[in-house]
Amino acid sequence: MKVGIVGAGHVGLPTAGALARLGHQVTVTDTDAPRIEALGRAEVPFFEPGLQELIAEGIESGRLSFTTDPAPVARESSAVFICVGTPPRVTGEANLVAVEKSALAVARHARGSLIVVEKSTVPTGTSDRLAKALARSKPGVSFQLVSNPEFLREGHAVEDSLHPARVLVGSDSTAALEVMRELYRPIIDGGAEYVETDQRTAELAKHACNAYLALKISFANAMARICELSDADVVSVTKVMGMDPRIGPGHLHAGLGYGGSCFPKDLAAFQRLVERLGYDFPLLGEIKRINDEAVMSVFTKIEEVLWNLEEKRVALLGLAFKPGTDDVRFAPALALARLLVDAGAEVVGYDPVANELAAAEVPGLKTADNVHEALDGAHCAVLCTEWDEFRTLDMTSARSAMAFPIMIDGRNLYESSDMAGAGFTYVPVGRRSVSPAIEDRLLADSL
Ligand code: UGA
Repeated sequence: MKVGIVGAGHVGLPTAGALARLGHQVTVTDTDAPRIEALGRAEVPFFEPGLQELIAEGIESGRLSFTTDPAPVARESSAVFICVGTPPRVTGEANLVAVEKSALAVARHARGSLIVVEKSTVPTGTSDRLAKALARSKPGVSFQLVSNPEFLREGHAVEDSLHPARVLVGSDSTAALEVMRELYRPIIDGGAEYVETDQRTAELAKHACNAYLALKISFANAMARICELSDADVVSVTKVMGMDPRIGPGHLHAGLGYGGSCFPKDLAAFQRLVERLGYDFPLLGEIKRINDEAVMSVFTKIEEVLWNLEEKRVALLGLAFKPGTDDVRFAPALALARLLVDAGAEVVGYDPVANELAAAEVPGLKTADNVHEALDGAHCAVLCTEWDEFRTLDMTSARSAMAFPIMIDGRNLYESSDMAGAGFTYVPVGRRSVSPAIEDRLLADSL
């Protein structure tokens, strides 16, 4: 089947690569000419494990191509996927200008009929509005709208696109549903759950999933605060919760909270949507409040161990919003970096892939070329992103590089006993801290 993809980003590229692997003829279009040109040489503009190889494989097979011209995409494709960004407006509402503009740009060249598939996360009702806008723009063409929300995770985008656990397809058009079934046939035959609904339900289901996942994280972070107040252990609390199959273990990891281009934005957009619909749902606001508190709580822990932050050097281990990506949008590490810089600390971050993007976001944030350079002379290290390279960090050499052996573990990556054994003052989230007596004395002497 011939398929068009509009938007060569975090969703569009893995989708394109996966559809090409499934045997479809895929053309990706984007207005960013240098990006399209680079993609023609299989150069992916961001870090996503396995994506470069998938794109190269598609190009090599002759089933994947890139263009800035939407005309052939509209004329030759059975379905066109809209995979453009829906960034938040200042009000929190999703900005749908790119969705409308890009769909109209393709529609202009359509003939006869065209299936337009929304993959971007949008408020429920968007496909109905888009259907009207498209019909108005090109009266002779029959446009069938489909909502096919993306559930991929950054850092696992290739795996999630090739082997999704579930595929959700919503449309009021039975003909479009049939085409989508054919498109996903290999994935359906591979055993993925395949759910068909109307388009409004599919749009709402996507917001419901992300809001609920964010709720789980904030619930775990609220538990962490309660554990700190009652000398209990959040890792055990959430482990026991996750053992109940009705709850499940995913997204119950307490720490610095959620970031990224999805949860913060989607939650805000969902909040504005339900307000507009006239439903009172204060729980959504609480999810965000607890998430903001998670960063503030780690900041307070740093202040507690270092007292004044002026002339103190703080090393941030990890800057990306999570491991496996160079995406720093709404990254908790950057929120923490801003608080530390404002408080007068010297902040040195190290991330295996996100240094450059992070430094561009936070004035005053320095970056180091490797973890040892970041730790050198630091009065405190804060584990912000649980990259594998930090799991295996040699704590003895880390300790000797640092001015004070203090580790604040914003992701509960390490074990207290190991850290105490290495001579660290160790401060995790929602768990008991450890502080070797010798370190207490040194710290007291230096303050
Ligand atoms: C999320 C969803 O997991 C995907 O299903 C969805 O398709 C995607 O949003 C989207 O809407 O496009 P993603 O943002 O890539 O995917 O990452 P997650 O793995 O869900 O992590 C989000 C944030 O939550 C990260 O900052 C992570 O560190 C944090 N997190 C995650 C926790 O703090 N605790 C957890 O237990 C899990």
